[in-house]
Amino acid sequence: MSKKIFSGVQPSGNLHLGNYIGAIKNFVDLQNQKENQCVYCVVDLHAITLKQDPKILKDSIRETTAAFLSSGIDPNKSIIFNQSLVPAHAEGSWILGCIARMGWLNRMTQFKEKAGKDKEKASVGLYIYPILMAADILLYDATHVPVGEDQKQHLELSRDIAQKFNSDFNVPNFLQVPEPLIKKKFSRIMSLKDGTKKMSKSDASDLSRINLTDTKDQISNKIKKAKTDTMPIPSKINELEKRPEVENLLGIYSSLNNQNIEKTINEFSGKNFSDFKETLADLVVEKISPISKEIIKLLKNKDHIDLILKNGAEKANEEASKKVKEIKKIIGF
Ligand code: TYM
Repeated sequence: MSKKIFSGVQPSGNLHLGNYIGAIKNFVDLQNQKENQCVYCVVDLHAITLKQDPKILKDSIRETTAAFLSSGIDPNKSIIFNQSLVPAHAEGSWILGCIARMGWLNRMTQFKEKAGKDKEKASVGLYIYPILMAADILLYDATHVPVGEDQKQHLELSRDIAQKFNSDFNVPNFLQVPEPLIKKKFSRIMSLKDGTKKMSKSDASDLSRINLTDTKDQISNKIKKAKTDTMPIPSKINELEKRPEVENLLGIYSSLNNQNIEKTINEFSGKNFSDFKETLADLVVEKISPISKEIIKLLKNKDHIDLILKNGAEKANEEASKKVKEIKKIIGF
């Protein structure tokens, strides 16, 4: 069955191995299944929900685009663009904001995490951000949305908004109710320093994550310093319980090698961590270094990246503005 795929990544600082394994790697696999139509967006309107330096933002948008391209997303096969070039996202978001309920937004755990203790000082944009995400998805009639596990609740909200719109205006199936594509395994890559926290660009310690632009030495050093424990690598999967750091490292290895965790355990069971970490570092370098080299190369030609985004935005604009026009007609404008 052909799928319409939509997903987005924020251009706020370095992309890391969590973004790659949880999202971008899957974007490429989906694009390469011929029957799929894919739209991949650099969500710059989402990024400004937290304060951004205007001098840096434009380059961050290009860097995220370069990471898409370097990982294998092909502008001849997929639409690649940045959100702010397509006004329909903001317009659609306003209308859908009048469909979404306060109670739904109040349940969003990511807002609570990101706003921290002083909710009063968070931007209103941060609070209503899941509505913009719903607009992103619904304006393209996306059937499937590949994301990491942390976006699951936002996707449920998109589904609720689509269903309420269809029912309020008596337009069954007008807004496509999207299915999340969240891998059962490896959809939540954890910090290298604390296996109970997800790997994140906002973590103060750079040692907690592997950035897609890290050098070979940085990668090896970070894996060498990654937290483990004093026991050897187990021989059974259930022995990973209460060993989140070990589970995470074995998960990273399995995912990058496209194999299940049982096979990885068989390969390394009983061995000590220094041997495993060396093999893991070699694998991460093998997978990430070509991407980081290509990112650096692509960033030397900013005009080329800008042109890809502009061409992508033209195609995206055609689809999204048509949908907004239909929405406006339905609601009586
Ligand atoms: P963002 O930019 O925080 O992350 C981009 C993608 O990377 C995944 N991810 C992870 N996966 C596994 N382990 C981790 N540690 C990890 N950290 C991040 C995220 O789940 C995501 O898939 N709101 C979204 C962007 C967005 C979007 C959309 C996504 C805006 N509109 C529409 C899908 C559809 C976000 O902030 O992702």
